[in-house]
Amino acid sequence: MTAHHPPLSSEHIDLSDTEFWGWPLADRQAAFAMLRSLDRPPFYAEPEFIFEAGPGYYALVRHADVVEASRNPEVFCSGKGATSIPDLPVEFNEYFGSMINMDDPRHARLRRIVSRAFTPRMIQRFADDVARTAAGIVDHLLETGPCDFVEHVAARLPLTIICRLMGIPDDSYRMVMRNTNIILSGFDPDLISEDMNEAVGQILTAGGELADLVTALGNERAGRPGDDLVSALVNANIDGEQLTSAELASFFILLVVAGNETTRNALSHALVLLTDFPDQRELLLADLGGRMEGAVEEIVRYSSPVMFMRRTLTRDYHMNGHDYREGDKMALFYWSANQDETVFTDPARFDITRSPNPHVGFGAAGPHFCLGAHLARREITVMLRELLTRVPSIHADGPPDRLLSSFINGIKHLNCDFSR
Ligand code: HEM
Repeated sequence: MTAHHPPLSSEHIDLSDTEFWGWPLADRQAAFAMLRSLDRPPFYAEPEFIFEAGPGYYALVRHADVVEASRNPEVFCSGKGATSIPDLPVEFNEYFGSMINMDDPRHARLRRIVSRAFTPRMIQRFADDVARTAAGIVDHLLETGPCDFVEHVAARLPLTIICRLMGIPDDSYRMVMRNTNIILSGFDPDLISEDMNEAVGQILTAGGELADLVTALGNERAGRPGDDLVSALVNANIDGEQLTSAELASFFILLVVAGNETTRNALSHALVLLTDFPDQRELLLADLGGRMEGAVEEIVRYSSPVMFMRRTLTRDYHMNGHDYREGDKMALFYWSANQDETVFTDPARFDITRSPNPHVGFGAAGPHFCLGAHLARREITVMLRELLTRVPSIHADGPPDRLLSSFINGIKHLNCDFSR
C-alpha cells in the first residue's frame, strides 16, 4: 500500500474509488474530517458494478444527519433497491438482504421471529456457553504461543456462538466462515477475484452453499423443531404463511454474516487499540469489572466495524439546512459520525472512560438498530476479560493487515505476542 498524504481539498476525495479505501487509516480519517467540515453532504457518482451505475448518492458524514435519517424510516427507507450503494440485482435477492433491506410492517414481522433470541435475558442464558468457548480459545492460544490473533482468537468466538445459536453442526463451521468472508470481502484481492464477473460468481456460490446448508437443516427441523434459530425460522408463520425457501435462505445468511463478520473485527481492533494506547490498557487492567463496559462501547465507536448503510428517500425532504429529493440515495457513514468532533471531544483519542458515548457503531436509534448488539457486547466483554486476566501482556506485534472494503472496517491478519 502506498503512503499517502492527507488530501488538500474535498475534490481529491472520492468515496466511490476503491483506491481511497486502501489509503492509510489516518489519511482516510483526515479525509472524513474534511468532508464533515463541508457546507453540505458531498455527492458521489456510484462505483462501477455489474450493471449500469445508478444515479449516485449523498454521503451523510455528520452524526446529526445519521441520527435523523435513522429515526425517520418512513422517509429514509431500506426497502427500495437495497442498503448497499448499488441496488441489488434480482439474482442477489434470493440470498442477500432479507429484513435489513425491508421496511415495516414486513421488516418488523420478520424481526419479531428472531428478536426474542437476542434480548439481554436470552443472551444471559447463553452466557455460560460464551464463557466456556472464550476460555477454550485462551487455553488454545496459550498452547499455540504468538500467532495470528484474527485466526486464533477473534474469529473463533463469534463463529462458534452464531453457529450454535443457529443449530449448525460443528463440521460446517469452516464452510460458514469461508463463505461469510467471501460475501463481505469488499474488493480485497486476497479474498475475491478482481474480475467483476468472476467475483459475482464467487459471491453467488458462497450464498448458494449457505442456502443449501439451511435448506438441509430446515428440512430436518420442520417436523422436529429444536430450540435453535433455524427451527424458529422454518416453523415461523408470517401473515399466515411460512417463509419461502428463498426467504429462509436470505434470513439465515443475514444472521450468519452479521454474526460473524462484525464482532470478529471489533475484537481485532480491540487488541490494536489496547496496544496503541497503553495508558488505556493500564486503566482497564486496573479495574476490569468497573471499566469494561465503557471500554467495549469505545472499541465499537472507534473501530465502527460496519462503516455505512444506505437509505433511499421516499419523498422530498429538508434536513439540517439542506433539501433532498425523492429517490435520492443516502449513505449513512457510521464510521465518520463516530468521529464527529461536534459530538465527541478529541475523537481520535481512544478513551475508555468517555461518557456520554452516543456512538452509532450499531446504527442509530431506529427500527434497524443492530439486532445482535447485546450479543456482540457480551462476546467482546467475555473475550477481553478472559484474555486480560490470563494473558495480560498480550499485544499486537506489528500493524494490522486491513481488508480493502468500503463497508466493513476489517482486519484480515494481526500478529500477537505475549512473550514479554
Ligand atoms: C460489534 C459487532 C457489530 C456491529 C458493529 C454491528 C453493526 C450493525 C449496524 C451498523 C447495523 C445497521 C443498523 C441500521 O441500519 O440502523 C446492524 C444491523 C444488524 N445486525 Fe449488527 N453489528 C454487530 C454484531 C451483530 C451480531 C453479533 C449479530 C447477530 C446476528 C448482528 C445482527 C444484525 C442484524 C440481523 C441486523 C439487521 C437488523 C434489521 O435490519 O432490523 N449484528 N448491525
